[in-house]
Amino acid sequence: MTSKRLNTFNVLFISLAVVAVGYVIRTPWLPIRRETKTSMGYPEDSLMNFTELTGKYGYISEEHHVITDDGYILTMFRIAKAKNCHKRKRSPPVLLMHGLLQSSDSWIDSGPNAGLAYLISDACYDLWLGNVRGNYYSRGHVHLNPDKDAEYWNFYIEEIGMYDVPAMIDYVLDYTGFEKLNYIGFSQGTGTFLVMCSERPGYCDKVQLVIGLAPAARQINTKSKIFRTLTQTFDKVEGALSMYGVQEVLCKGAFSQEFVAYFCQMSDFTERLCETIIDVFDHVESPHSGSITNETTKVLFGHFPAGTSVHNMARYGQSMKSDRFEKFNYGKEQNLVIYGSEQPPLYNLSATTVPVLCIYGKNDGLVDVKDVEWLMSKLPNVIESVKVEEPLWTHMDVTYSQYTGDTIFPKINEYLLKYTSA
Ligand SMILES: *[C@@H]1O[C@H](CO)[C@@H](O)[C@H](O)[C@H]1NC(C)=O
Ligand SMILES: *[C@@H]1O[C@H](CO)[C@@H](O)[C@H](O)[C@H]1NC(C)=O
Ligand SMILES: *[C@@H]1O[C@H](CO)[C@@H](O)[C@H](O)[C@H]1NC(C)=O
Repeated sequence: MTSKRLNTFNVLFISLAVVAVGYVIRTPWLPIRRETKTSMGYPEDSLMNFTELTGKYGYISEEHHVITDDGYILTMFRIAKAKNCHKRKRSPPVLLMHGLLQSSDSWIDSGPNAGLAYLISDACYDLWLGNVRGNYYSRGHVHLNPDKDAEYWNFYIEEIGMYDVPAMIDYVLDYTGFEKLNYIGFSQGTGTFLVMCSERPGYCDKVQLVIGLAPAARQINTKSKIFRTLTQTFDKVEGALSMYGVQEVLCKGAFSQEFVAYFCQMSDFTERLCETIIDVFDHVESPHSGSITNETTKVLFGHFPAGTSVHNMARYGQSMKSDRFEKFNYGKEQNLVIYGSEQPPLYNLSATTVPVLCIYGKNDGLVDVKDVEWLMSKLPNVIESVKVEEPLWTHMDVTYSQYTGDTIFPKINEYLLKYTSA
């Protein structure tokens, strides 16, 4: 073959491979019925949704729907009655926001004695849980069809911060009649809050206290090779994928999620392999053995990954390369057209004027200590920045560890109490 033909061949081949992989990670599999999974031995908890699962453990949850200014329909949950709280609810309400590729279920996967949603509502706070656009609870829109309209998937943390977070805050405040709430965000859940403060003047003032758990902004020091490679690949192939109609990735019910869910509960051996996968994904050097129990491992893969857009994943790929916390980089020429500058504009971190408590781990391979410390140096109102004492505390531990009650909850509770009115 001539080199030109060889090149064409290569491009074709790579495109086909990309599309094949794209479909595998996106395409909904034949939905396997719940009864079938139960008979195959999947743990019951992995098959339940938020209301069912909290209900099983004696908590009563409500489901709420919120429509954003740009038409996305989001699902929120509120724990209306906690099993171990017998007093009047503490005010103001607390809004708990999951991380990338998660849903509200990630706060309950580790069970009643460890899931932060249980611990916080047992301490009598009026707890609300958000779900951002694109995950399986928030995959709706007033006129776009996520299965047909590519436009639905044209979002990254920018839109989540501009529309989803403000809409959820407004909804909770309207519903409860309070003027402010306390916000807890894990990883992306904090990053999108920072975007909101930068892009939506006034919204920061609706929050009394922000608790950033392993907050993700700039991620140039991220150690996880898998996460780096995965997101940077999405950044490279976003155009090719979209040509073939692949805009959604790693959704629940997709081949990838169904496969890990099946694989992780198949046998003791594969289950241990899944624990290793979590460790490798998070951090390569020193796993925090036993922190995430084998039961939790099986349950969490029933709810994770929960889906997002290729565009959002691509933006994470960019954030591993840039030492700035900035908007999507479309390349110099396109940036000039879109932003009027060759470099994407920065998010204004000085606009996060609300008091911030930050809690982060030394063994976090996704949001590195150096990047958290950089972020804290940029925020104008950090009241305390707490490095978790446990030296092996990882990223995934925040939502899934069995030790949250002793390691991070006391600090969270101390500050929620301090910022409780009446
Ligand atoms: C959760 O499951 C219950 C019971 O099957 C169902 O009524 C409810 O609609 C489900 N909620 C969501 C958000 O899927
Ligand atoms: C779960 O983990 C514990 C301790 O880590 C171990 O003793 C137990 O055998 C494991 N159970 C299964 C089913 O693998
Ligand atoms: C960033 O936000 C702060 C606080 O709202 C404001 O004083 C400052 O002018 C903003 N900076 C830019 C570049 O917009």
